[in-house]
Parts: sequence; structure tokens; C-alpha cells
Amino acid sequence: MKEQTLLMIKPDAVRARRIGKILDQVEQVFQIVGLRMKRFQRDEAERFYAVHRGKPFFETLVDFITSGPVVGVLLEGEGVIQKLRDFIGATDPAKAAPGTIRALYGTSITENAVHASDSPESAAYEIPFFFNEEERRAA
Ligand code: CMP
Repeated sequence: MKEQTLLMIKPDAVRARRIGKILDQVEQVFQIVGLRMKRFQRDEAERFYAVHRGKPFFETLVDFITSGPVVGVLLEGEGVIQKLRDFIGATDPAKAAPGTIRALYGTSITENAVHASDSPESAAYEIPFFFNEEERRAA
């Protein structure tokens, strides 16, 4: 089934000037149908990561994600949600398979370069933080 998902390039990778390299690798495999740079306000970041509220790393995560601009990338394709998760690698860069985005560009479990939606439900929740309905349809 054709799906859409969200890839987010995080502030560490933006600061390290990896946007181009990451987009290049992603584009060789996936179809990019939307692109937007933004900086999260604290309340918006807390809503984006609402599923992690109450966990010990929540404040650190929100501090980090609001520390600089991020890039939202809308991707579309058959089974793209799971395929992109496999492509970026495990959450902890130290455990991510060689050649994956997090293994290449992540430096810690917090500063792990990218985020990707992990299910159709999280994609439906996360995509609107970057792209409106009209932009999704035009893709
Ligand atoms: P991400 O894919 O953006 O989704 C939630 C983020 O929380 C995750 O990447 C990590 O950066 C962070 N995270 C998840 N688990 C932990 C953990 N055990 N300790 C610290 N940060 C974590």
C-alpha cells in the first residue's frame, strides 16, 4: 500500500551540515515529496514527542530538539514507513547497522541525527507538524 511518512533531520545533523548528505542518501532510495525547515517551540516539541512524556529522557529530548532548526522530509511509497525505519537504523547509533543514517551521522542516543515515524498512526500524527493537508495531497 502506498503510504506517506515523516523523516526529521535533527539539530545535531543540521549543525554538522549533514542535510545535503542525508537527503542525497534518502533520495537514492525513496521519493521525497515535501521538504520544510523549522524550529520547534517548546510546547510544540512536547506535543510532537507526547508519547515519551514522563520518561526519564523526555526533558533532555525536548531541550535538544528545540536547540536549533530541524528539517521535515515527507516521503511517499509502498511500505515506506518500515523501509525508512530500516534505512535509518537503530535509535542508539552505537547499535545501528553499518551504513545506516544513524550509524553514519548519529553521535549518541539523544543526538541521533534523524527521526522517522514508526507506524501509520505516528506518521498521521507527526506529518501535520510540518505539512498541511493540501501539501500532502499535492505530493
Ligand atoms: P527518535 O526516533 O527521535 O524518538 C524519540 C527519541 O528519544 C529517540 O529518537 C532518541 O533520541 C530519544 N530516546 C529514546 N530512548 C532513549 C533513551 N533510553 N535515552 C535517551 N534518549 C532516548
